[in-house]
Amino acid sequence: MTTNVEPDTTADDAPIEIQLSAGAATPTHAVAAGQGAAAGPAQPELGPPIFQLRDLGVWYGKNEAVRGVSMDIPKNAITAIIGPSGCGKSTTLRCLNRMNDLVPGARVNGEILFGGEDLLSSDVDPVDLRGRIGMVFQKPSPFPKSIKDNIEFGMKVNGIKPTAERVEQALVDAALWDEVKDRLKDEAFSLSGGQQQRLCIARAIAVEPEVILMDEPCSALDPIATLAIEDLMKNIAERFTLVVVTHNMQQAARISDQVAFMTVEGKAEGERCGVLAEVGTAREIFSAPKDPRTEAYITGRVG
Ligand SMILES: Nc1ncnc2c1ncn2[C@@H]1O[C@H](COP(=O)(O)OP(=O)(O)O)[C@@H](O)[C@H]1O
Ligand SMILES: [Mg+2]
Repeated sequence: MTTNVEPDTTADDAPIEIQLSAGAATPTHAVAAGQGAAAGPAQPELGPPIFQLRDLGVWYGKNEAVRGVSMDIPKNAITAIIGPSGCGKSTTLRCLNRMNDLVPGARVNGEILFGGEDLLSSDVDPVDLRGRIGMVFQKPSPFPKSIKDNIEFGMKVNGIKPTAERVEQALVDAALWDEVKDRLKDEAFSLSGGQQQRLCIARAIAVEPEVILMDEPCSALDPIATLAIEDLMKNIAERFTLVVVTHNMQQAARISDQVAFMTVEGKAEGERCGVLAEVGTAREIFSAPKDPRTEAYITGRVG
């Protein structure tokens, strides 16, 4: 399947200049290492892991989609997963809250520890887990309900009493409150696309998860709406762990503390499988990648 390696449309202007976020250089929620004498240039250090992936693999029926992914995902930081289309970014993300359980024929192997516990164990209730690990999708997907009901619905499902204060706080956190405070009873679909996506983030925040997974949350949005979402991601990352799939490297550089670069590897003739090529701080990946495949991708030489 050649579609696996088609370049993303936003990633094919070569070469591109990557502007690292201020957070990547001097992270507010990570400890800068090497501040003592003779330590060389300060390298941001990532906090303790909330997820530990060990040799993670996913099959869809007879097709191996992802193989051998091992990495830690630091707590209260933003990890971006980047890489060409079809390299298994969404598949890997969906493993983190057992969403692949819902895909017929999908099989996950290897190990994921979440807070030290075996997340893939049959003892884990995936519905409970999804209360702790929320998800925001590419296309804004509010329920056909009012703005307020969208926030309250998830709270009720998760056993949280939906008080006016909690609804307001979730909308404040998602940087939407000022725009909707006078129209909470309006239909969610009356909002713009960017507002709908912030509403979906507010809905995810409202159930007080530990982690929010986002799969290309800005790809349906214009640049202004995208920047609003990026700002809110940076603001909430001190309280929630964020794992964000993006095909936009500039975005990854602007927002993330850690970057995981996935790519596709050929197996037998015609068979291709997603692998993790390299993981590191945003600074390492964008300024000094170790793997030639990462370098080729971030300099725009390959999609
Ligand atoms: N629900 C599914 N059923 C079967 N194959 C799938 C499914 N989702 C993804 N795949 C396959 O798994 C591979 C990785 O896909 P995906 O995780 O969507 O990649 P990415 O998000 O990086 O574009 C692709 O070859 C894709 O066709
Ligand atoms: Mg995807």
